[in-house]
Amino acid sequence: MTTPLLQMKAISRRFGHFYALQDVNLTVYAGEVHALMGENGAGKSTLMKILAGAYPATGGEILIECRPLLMKGPKDALSAGITLIYQEFNLAPNLTVAENIFLGSEIHRAGMVHRRQMVQTAQQVLDRLGARFRASDRVMGLSIAEQQQVEIARALHRQIRILVMYEPTAALSTRETEQLFALIKRLRQEGMAIIYISHRMAEVYALSDRVSVLRDGRYVGALTREQPSASELVRMMVGRDTAERFIQ
Ligand SMILES: Nc1ncnc2c1ncn2[C@@H]1O[C@H](COP(=O)(O)OP(=O)(O)OP(=O)(O)O)[C@@H](O)[C@H]1O
Ligand SMILES: [Mg+2]
Repeated sequence: MTTPLLQMKAISRRFGHFYALQDVNLTVYAGEVHALMGENGAGKSTLMKILAGAYPATGGEILIECRPLLMKGPKDALSAGITLIYQEFNLAPNLTVAENIFLGSEIHRAGMVHRRQMVQTAQQVLDRLGARFRASDRVMGLSIAEQQQVEIARALHRQIRILVMYEPTAALSTRETEQLFALIKRLRQEGMAIIYISHRMAEVYALSDRVSVLRDGRYVGALTREQPSASELVRMMVGRDTAERFIQ
């Protein structure tokens, strides 16, 4: 058995008296696409925000390759190789692709930002992704799918090992979705762990190696690629009684 890249153990998160997460466990391996599913309000975003250091857990711990991660904020997540691509991209539209990729980690030479080298390095990452735009292009001229590629390029540049994608196909055409899936599969092959949050069952089937299910802030279980039937997944997400009613 290989060492898990990521373990979230007994994670809880309380808002006032309300538990958004209770005793949630999530184990993710390098080189897998791990879907995270659950109905609205199940706790997916809360769990991923904790993983990205957006806010702290009330209880539990995060381990990277079995070593505890002291998570005090987003910087700790980034230096542990974790990033989250939100639905609303976190890009500066009036800056170039290269500037966005390097934002906060600009290359300097003799006290000046070394633009040429940044563009060259950014272009190498874009080439690796098979992007059709240039590192010197401004982000505001790019399509949604291309902006998503800039986010992925930034993650690669930062040597991210755990990439969380939140409903990444919501604004993509069928063709763009296929391109994204091809890219995700390549990243998986390179050993990245991708946590994929989607309500779209067909996508989860097409892409994921395993599926973890949350319900009402609790971890229901994980299924491997071979296991899940649609009804089994629905049952896990909504609970047996409701599922039986739902399927009829
Ligand atoms: N800042 C907050 N204050 C109070 N309650 C919150 C807060 N954030 C989330 N919650 C509650 O925690 C629960 C889990 O929410 P969360 O957004 O994690 O669910 P989700 O699985 O991402 O849902 P969706 O599929 O709709 O995105 C919900 O009941 C939500 O109302
Ligand atoms: Mg959510």
